[in-house]
Amino acid sequence: MSSLREGPTTVVRREDYAPPAYWIDTVELTFDLDPAKTRVLNRMTLRRNAAVAAQPLRLDGEELNLARVLVNGAGCSFKMDAGQLVLDNLPEGNEPFTLEIFTTCAPEKNSQLMGLYVSQGTFFTQCEAEGFRRITYFLDRPDVMASYTVTLRADKARYPVLLSNGNLEEEGPLPDGRHFAKWVDPHRKPSYLFALVAGNLVAREQRIVSRSGKEHLLQVFVRRGDMDKTEHAMQSLIASVAWDEARFGLPLDLERFMIVATSDFNMGAMENKGLNIFNTKYVLANSATATDTDFANIESVVGHEYFHNWTGNRVTCRDWFQLSLKEGLTVFRDQEFSMDLCAEPSARAVKRIEDVRVLRTAQFPEDAGPMAHPVRPDSYVEINNFYTVTVYEKGAEVVRMMQTLVGREGFARGMKLYFERHDGQAVTCDDFAQAIADANPDSALARQLEVFKRWYSQAGTPRVRAEGRYDAEARRYTLTLSQHCAPTPGQAVKQPFLIPVALGLLDAQGRELPLPESQRLVVLADASATVVFDDIDSEPVPSLLRGFSAPVVLEYADSDAQLLTLLAHDSDPFNRWEAGQRLALRRALAAVRADGPVAQPLDAAFIDAMRAVLRHDTLDAAFKELTLTLPSETYISEQLEVVDPQRVHAVREAMREQLAQALHADWAWAYEQHRDNGAYRPDPLSAGRRALAGMALTMLCLDARQSGDAVWPGKAYQRFKDAGNMTDRFNALSALVVSGHALAREALPRFHAMFRDEALVLDKWFALQAGAPDRGGNILPAVRQLMAHPDFQLRNPNRARSVIFSYCNANPGAFHRADAAGYVFWSDRVLEIDRFNPQVAARLARALDRWKKLAEPYRSAAREAIARVAAQAELSNDVREVVTRALSED
Ligand code: TRP
Ligand code: ZN
Repeated sequence: MSSLREGPTTVVRREDYAPPAYWIDTVELTFDLDPAKTRVLNRMTLRRNAAVAAQPLRLDGEELNLARVLVNGAGCSFKMDAGQLVLDNLPEGNEPFTLEIFTTCAPEKNSQLMGLYVSQGTFFTQCEAEGFRRITYFLDRPDVMASYTVTLRADKARYPVLLSNGNLEEEGPLPDGRHFAKWVDPHRKPSYLFALVAGNLVAREQRIVSRSGKEHLLQVFVRRGDMDKTEHAMQSLIASVAWDEARFGLPLDLERFMIVATSDFNMGAMENKGLNIFNTKYVLANSATATDTDFANIESVVGHEYFHNWTGNRVTCRDWFQLSLKEGLTVFRDQEFSMDLCAEPSARAVKRIEDVRVLRTAQFPEDAGPMAHPVRPDSYVEINNFYTVTVYEKGAEVVRMMQTLVGREGFARGMKLYFERHDGQAVTCDDFAQAIADANPDSALARQLEVFKRWYSQAGTPRVRAEGRYDAEARRYTLTLSQHCAPTPGQAVKQPFLIPVALGLLDAQGRELPLPESQRLVVLADASATVVFDDIDSEPVPSLLRGFSAPVVLEYADSDAQLLTLLAHDSDPFNRWEAGQRLALRRALAAVRADGPVAQPLDAAFIDAMRAVLRHDTLDAAFKELTLTLPSETYISEQLEVVDPQRVHAVREAMREQLAQALHADWAWAYEQHRDNGAYRPDPLSAGRRALAGMALTMLCLDARQSGDAVWPGKAYQRFKDAGNMTDRFNALSALVVSGHALAREALPRFHAMFRDEALVLDKWFALQAGAPDRGGNILPAVRQLMAHPDFQLRNPNRARSVIFSYCNANPGAFHRADAAGYVFWSDRVLEIDRFNPQVAARLARALDRWKKLAEPYRSAAREAIARVAAQAELSNDVREVVTRALSED
């Protein structure tokens, strides 16, 4: 039984932060690696922190077998208290002393994938946030930074490659077929950035010369058969190094930079100093096995982890409440990286739309639900539960607003000051905001820094109401903006936020009206503000919150005519897309709220507008695909007070079918226009063409389902067989599965047979079926069958996610069943997974966060399922925190 279960449930509070009583200056670790019993010798030099009252040394440890403790080479007394190793007879005074600790652990039994574990015969570590304590006793907190020397010893035949952070200092043979490698990390670091890897791996290598003329070795380590899927990750890494130097003047500070892929990983990837460890999903790709989305994700995750080298590693977090200091900033940096790699401005806009879509479909619900927390949380039970879309995605928006307020150059200046002040330190979100403000003393950010920082302290999504009034006689347009934020758990009253509102005005013909710079960015810092625009000849159409300049909900009673003007003409591509979404959302909500059976929710004006976008001769394909994609069921549901998930599903499906039918000829045209793209390249332009062709094929198959036509499903099946790349192949398969065509029953086994040895492709195969539209309750039984498939492995997080999360978290129409069977399935899986991997279980546990919004009978059934999980006596702190919050009355 894991010690997580035995420990008391304690709340950690930000206000209780106290500096450590001791510093650890150096750490020498020696590992004798063995899957069943690994020996760890940890030799540290420590000294008291003179700024703190003298007190015993308390070291964190978890699931360790303690063999011996020596202080300055001699035995000493110690005790165990609440899982910590406590030493209270340490030498007096402030002189450094050495502490040696011998422990053993059992990596092959480590199913949580935190600490040292074995995946397919290879050793890996994962230490963030609190995994290092599962390797040895330590001050496992990010403000204790030490210099590490690591010696690895293992059987040479089974573990020919031995890696750790920094530079390889020495390697050689040992008796009994064993060998060793000694690594020295030249940079001090917190324990969460420690890593080791030992196994039978091969590497793609590339030498690069940085701007300053320094040589570096880049390596991507994978299992032997995966070498042909490493080129894209390597190219992404090379581009990342170049980008950080060019955009922020931040060089690679290591001789060697390594990426290693593992198929057993709780999250996406981890930025261990010089030795990033990745989920295979974010490394391995070639055109036969990976889709355009996979290629794009790899680029951004490789960038993300690399950029942590400065934002996270060189400057790290003082405590885990400051997590967004590194994560929000690094997400912002990876978003900018992906945008800067786009050759065309339209591709930049597409990336921005995709990022906003994630924020609004995942973070806004979090902010409105029981797990709502500020970007810088005030308390937690289990820190793993706070690696959230709020800390990451909303945190990135907070950084983005700073850049908007001080300008791109001002922001780069702020970053420079941040590193001048804090390189090598463990700091806070306040320190970051202060540096950006101090580098831009004349900015609105500097003038109102305290107001701005409420974005860090207050949870919840502000709503901005806009009202426009046109006075024809005075040729004056008056815009009034006001803000409001609903209470969140533990925060009843909200102060006004500082909200940058980028805007423009169009005339009735859709022409942009010239505005002075100061009026194109309005900074709302109080409850309300009024802006006056003079010399306006006719009633304008406002284009508000351009580029999604703040993470808020905009309430503006725009007419359909105004939205159609924006959709047709706005120079801001984000708002152009947004106008289409608002038009669609309005129709979806009307149909959901109407009485009686779902009829045809779409009108001719909307359909014509969509046709105009689809047939447009200058808009690019990726933008068209985004605009023609209807708001998700999750997003529609968020706008409702009370949600009947079946009704929402039925309405959205009806809208899709209507678009499929009404635009049949246009979809056929779009498919023929975009289906051929020459040799595969994962660039945004050709990816956009493939996305639109794929969407067209799905719509044509959907329509064929209604009309009984066999031609398009036949073409889709042919495409599935002939496709030259995974994107086209998978889109064709998906068109058949999503439309529920009989040919799907032939294509699915064929696809499985083709890719039976490609784990990441099989994940797609599972996910497609578990995420397919429900028809008469058929998905849950299909999910149960998938779990019985010989390739299903509950303990592999990617595989578990591909079936269980695809069903519970990403398929609302199938999950929310009137008979409650979806919820019972969910509670069974949460409890089952929690027994071996609490981190993954707690993520699944969040699928019912928004249960209070559900209509009956869903609401009561969901509550009962959550209560059933909460009633379980043996529950991890991870899952307990999630279900306790979900059930709280707050
Ligand atoms: N710091 C990592 C990132 O954002 C993510 C991470 C945190 C993680 N904790 C983890 C990854 C645990 C795997 C397991 O890049
Ligand atoms: Zn990160």
